[in-house]
Amino acid sequence: MYKKYCSDLASQSASQSGKSNTQEKMSDLPELWKKLSEGESKSLLKKHCTKEVYEKLKDKKSKLGGTLADCIRSGALNLNSGVGVYACDPEGYEVFKELLDPVIMDYHKVDKVEHPPCDFGPQDKLGFDPLDATGEFIVSTRVRVGRSHEGYPFPPVSTDEQRKDMENKTIAALNTLEGELKGKYYSLETMTPEENQQLIDDHFMFKNDDKMLGDAGGYNGWPKARGIFFNDNKTFLCWINEEDHLRFISMQKGGDVGEVYKRLVSAIKQLEKKLTFAYSKRHGYLTFCPTNLGTTLRASVHIKVPKLAKNEEVLNKICADNKLQPRGIHGEHTESVGGVYDISNKRRLGLTEYQAMQEMYNGIKEIIQAEKNAK
Ligand code: ADP
Ligand code: ARG
Repeated sequence: MYKKYCSDLASQSASQSGKSNTQEKMSDLPELWKKLSEGESKSLLKKHCTKEVYEKLKDKKSKLGGTLADCIRSGALNLNSGVGVYACDPEGYEVFKELLDPVIMDYHKVDKVEHPPCDFGPQDKLGFDPLDATGEFIVSTRVRVGRSHEGYPFPPVSTDEQRKDMENKTIAALNTLEGELKGKYYSLETMTPEENQQLIDDHFMFKNDDKMLGDAGGYNGWPKARGIFFNDNKTFLCWINEEDHLRFISMQKGGDVGEVYKRLVSAIKQLEKKLTFAYSKRHGYLTFCPTNLGTTLRASVHIKVPKLAKNEEVLNKICADNKLQPRGIHGEHTESVGGVYDISNKRRLGLTEYQAMQEMYNGIKEIIQAEKNAK
């Protein structure tokens, strides 16, 4: 299945040469709509893309050439999607708002699409007390944010040239980092398959095996203009042209959430002096997928909870009550291994960065307590 997907991907990107062709893509809209409207799906796309919404949006286009087809392609081709929608470009969030607003409100559980100004928390106490002082439960901690370059489209509309341009800009900015954050860029175009696999196995590097992202255009032109930057001890990383133009990541072994968070905030503050990110007052930072908007922040721990793992229903309930999302340890759509889960904050929009961190921190505290109490 995975091999077949990769070979489909190779022929697709060879034939496309990573160029967007809006005309051609416009023309697959009726077919996508047929699949979506006639198929069964529990996705937010199916729920909110009513006939009325479709009719209203079907002929609209963003300034960069994004269409409704670009927004719904993944969810129409993958009826098993949970969300199923991606934005064509930053402006797409307004052009296609009759679809995107209800999807955003539904996912982030808010009554209105609005977002507070960026706030990383009180300067003097960005730290958090140790979550797991004995190191019994937390294997590692990771906090990431997504960012998009202002003025550039998202993957289905981007050309190879635009991706290259964004890669060059980002490398130039990353190369100005100093001290602990200073590092080097490793291009996916020149990395050996062994180096790539090792980085994936160690949880640092992204893959290209997500069919939903692939169908959204996320792997167009792969592996061109993709790569990873990291510092010597791999505690600060930047993904270039994975799902988002940019993902800034801070991670380390153990449960020192404060140290991980402070490092990320310091990197963001330095990089935003060199780069301009797509931002809207209503949505916060704009990303390809509506699930990542706003703070774009996902703070996770890999946590060992063997007792709770025996009763996933209980674990899932604690997660839901605390607005947390459990994942497997090899990333989204993977399973837990040996009672270890990736657990993170679920909400990213409608709250500040600091509040998103607190949601994760307080929820994980409860999970540790529940594991201690479990038989
Ligand atoms: P994201 O959407 O945040 O990029 P993914 O679920 O795609 O997350 O995971 C990306 C990679 O990060 C995977 O290799 C995953 O195992 C790794 N990862 C996520 N959280 C942690 C963590 N707390 N510690 C170590 N690795 C992690
Ligand atoms: N499009 C996928 C779905 O609808 C993933 C959504 C969230 N994940 C992401 N990586 N953006 O289920």
